Parts: sequence; structure tokens; C-alpha cells
Amino acid sequence: MTAVQHDIHVFPVSGAKVPAGATVTEVAAMKEALQAALGGPRGANPLVGAVILDSRGHTIATGFHRGAGTAHAEADAIAEARRRGLDLAGTTMVVTLEPCNHLGRTGPCSQAIIAAGIARVVYAIDDPHGPAAGGARTLRAAGVEVVAGVEESEALELNREWFEAVASKRPFVTLHIAQTLDSRIAAEDGTSQWISSPESLADNHGLRGLIDAILVGTQTVLIDNPRLTARDGDGHAVGRQPLRAVMGLRDIPEDAAVKGTDGNFTHLRTREPAEALSMLFEQGVRHVMVEGGARILSAFLSAGLVDELVVYIAPTLLGSGTPALQGLGIKTLTAAQHWDWDDSGGGSVRRLGRDLRLHLKPVRQGTDTPGQSHARSEEQRLSDSAMPAAHTTGGH
Ligand SMILES: NC(=O)c1ccc[n+]([C@@H]2O[C@H](COP(=O)([O-])OP(=O)(O)OC[C@H]3O[C@@H](n4cnc5c(N)ncnc54)[C@H](OP(=O)(O)O)[C@@H]3O)[C@@H](O)[C@H]2O)c1
Repeated sequence: MTAVQHDIHVFPVSGAKVPAGATVTEVAAMKEALQAALGGPRGANPLVGAVILDSRGHTIATGFHRGAGTAHAEADAIAEARRRGLDLAGTTMVVTLEPCNHLGRTGPCSQAIIAAGIARVVYAIDDPHGPAAGGARTLRAAGVEVVAGVEESEALELNREWFEAVASKRPFVTLHIAQTLDSRIAAEDGTSQWISSPESLADNHGLRGLIDAILVGTQTVLIDNPRLTARDGDGHAVGRQPLRAVMGLRDIPEDAAVKGTDGNFTHLRTREPAEALSMLFEQGVRHVMVEGGARILSAFLSAGLVDELVVYIAPTLLGSGTPALQGLGIKTLTAAQHWDWDDSGGGSVRRLGRDLRLHLKPVRQGTDTPGQSHARSEEQRLSDSAMPAAHTTGGH
């Protein structure tokens, strides 16, 4: 297991005003950086974007973080500027998260900024990770001017689920569903390989290469005997492999493919999603992808423990078989779960070969859902249309 171990600190404070000291140009650059951040995938690390401004306030480089183990947004922007032969002395770095202070899998950004001669750093939100935090202090000590809290609530919203996962000391959870047009994940006889197009399978294996762990239920192991590795188009395991996790009380056969021979396997003997997540967290997992089957997907969704949804829809009908979800305990429309389109990590709706790939994030509790706002406008329409009638009968 190669996941970075993080000590978790505090939940960042939201709602702060734009602090005095930031210029209008820097606020505009922060919006650019927030947009750039969407280029990266969600997961163990937050989405982060960075913009470098020259002394006239012009953007000279942009960067973003492409996921755990890759360059941070600041280093990405500095590298872009270097590729173009630019001198960064006296420039301003505008970044959506406090520059990190720790080595991790990449170097500390605070040191890279100091070494580049950047004179001023404007950031949105403090880093909640213990070892990574403290970048602002290091920068100030080296004489770099630092302004914090610019567009803070937007930066918090950008990574809302990630901050919540960090504060709850659990991994970030991606739920993966590969289904037919009529929402089946397996046919009546149990066959499910492969519902998705080769392009969707390749995309899924790309995601497997980014995560720390992949989780399925015991029934999927018993029926499909999956390997749960990240593989290339020729079926060879490639790159960093996720921990293979199976959840459920029954024993897993000794010769099950998921056990492998590398020891990178764990059996979570529980049916409680929250307990499974805390077991994985204990093992260093910071990003898990839940791949099924139906009962496991439903259990995580019912528990409200899904941060991101990736759904592959094949233009295929089965008419019967295993539905993707087996009940979420929802009895009425007002209790429905609502999801928002997520433009990060390649976009919210994409064609992959014959399939559609949908990418969604949960709607925040208490936010107006599409159904509620429709119901409200309908209520308003009815009361508006009732008013003249009441006036007519009661008036003249
Ligand atoms: N299309 C796809 O991408 C895809 C992906 C995966 C699976 N599938 C298909 O999905 C089907 C399997 O789905 P499934 O729903 O039958 O099985 P499942 O979700 O894979 O596993 C269910 C089993 O997990 C255990 N479990 C652990 N936590 C649970 C919880 N909170 N609630 C209920 N059970 C829990 C239980 O076994 P214990 O008795 O051991 O506790 C239960 O029998 C297969 O046909 C497979 O081919 C399709």
C-alpha cells in the first residue's frame, strides 16, 4: 500500500470576507485558478489550480494538480513558465490552496516558490493536512508577501466533499456504475462482462491507476471472480496498483483471483459502509472506488457516503437482470437523492465509444434541488394565478 499517510488537522473556516490586501486583478486571477483546478481528477488530493501574474498583473502561466503523486498546481505553473523561458523573480502566485510545506510524493511547494524568486503569494484556503500545512509561515519567514482567504468560500465549495472526507477521517469515495440503458449491471443469468465499451473499460482502468483501493461485495467476487487490477488494453497490470478490498461476512475462496499473490488484498468482514471506510483509512487508503455490485452500491448511497459518481451507460437493453441499485430506502419523491453535474476531471458528460460517461457530485443538503425549485415555482404560479380571481370575486 503506497498511499501517503496524512495527519488530519482542522476543518477550514468558511465565509471569510476577501481580505484587504488583494487586488481586483488577483481576485480575477483566483477565479481563473479555480477554473484551472477543474482540469484535475477528484480523489485523495483536492482539486487545486494556480496562476502566475507578472508585475503588470498579466497571467504568464497556469497550472493544476493532476491527482495524487503528480506535481502540485504551483509546481505545474512554475514548470510551464520555465518551459517558456520566463524569469519568475518578482512575480505573484495566485493559488486556490495554501502552498504545501511537506515533502510527500512531490517536493514542498513553499520551497519551490521561494527558489523561483516569486515575491507574493495569494491563496484562497488553508491546507487542513497537518504535515502539509504551514506553507504560508515558511513563505513569510523567507520574505515572501502572503495574502490568504481570497475567494475562500468558492475554494471550499470546489472541494467540499474532499474537505468533509478529510474532517471525517475517511477516504474520499468514488462510486462506479457500469450499466445498460435500462439500469442493469448484470443479466438474468448473472453475466456482466462486459456491459461497457472497450473505451469505458479503458477509462475505468485509468481511474483504477489513480485510486488507493477498489472495493466490491463478496457476491461479485463469488459470481465474477474479478482481478480488480489496473490493466492496459492488452490485459497486463500496469503502474501503481490499488489495494483490492472485498466487503462482506462470507469467506473468500483461497483461489479467488482478487486475492492475487502480491499481498495487496484485504477482506473487510463487515456490512457497514462507514466501518469499511474506517478500516480502509487505517490501512492508509485516502481514495476508494466502490465498483459494486448492486447491494454494495446501494449501501454506500443510502449511507450518504459517496463523494463522486461515475456512471457508464451502454446503449443496450436487458429488460431483466440485476438493477444497478437495490433500494435506497426512499419512499417519496421529496426524499429523492439529487446529484449535480461535475465538470472536473474531463467533464460531466462524455461519449466513450458507444457509451455515455456521466460524472456527478452530491447536491449539498439544504440546497434547492431541481424538484424542489420546480415545486416551488409551480406553487408560485398557482398562487399568482389565484390572486386575480380572488380579487375579481371579492372586489367589484
Ligand atoms: N456492471 C458492473 O460494473 C458490475 C460491477 C460489480 C458487480 N456487478 C454484478 O453485480 C452482481 C452482484 O451484485 P449483488 O448486489 O448481488 O452483490 P454485491 O453487492 O457484490 O455483494 C453483496 C454481498 O456483499 C455483502 N455485503 C456487505 N455489505 C453489505 C451491505 N451493506 N448490504 C448488503 N450486502 C452486503 C453480503 O454478503 P455477505 O453475506 O458475505 O456479508 C452481500 O451478499 C453480480 O451479478 C455482478 O456481476 C456488475
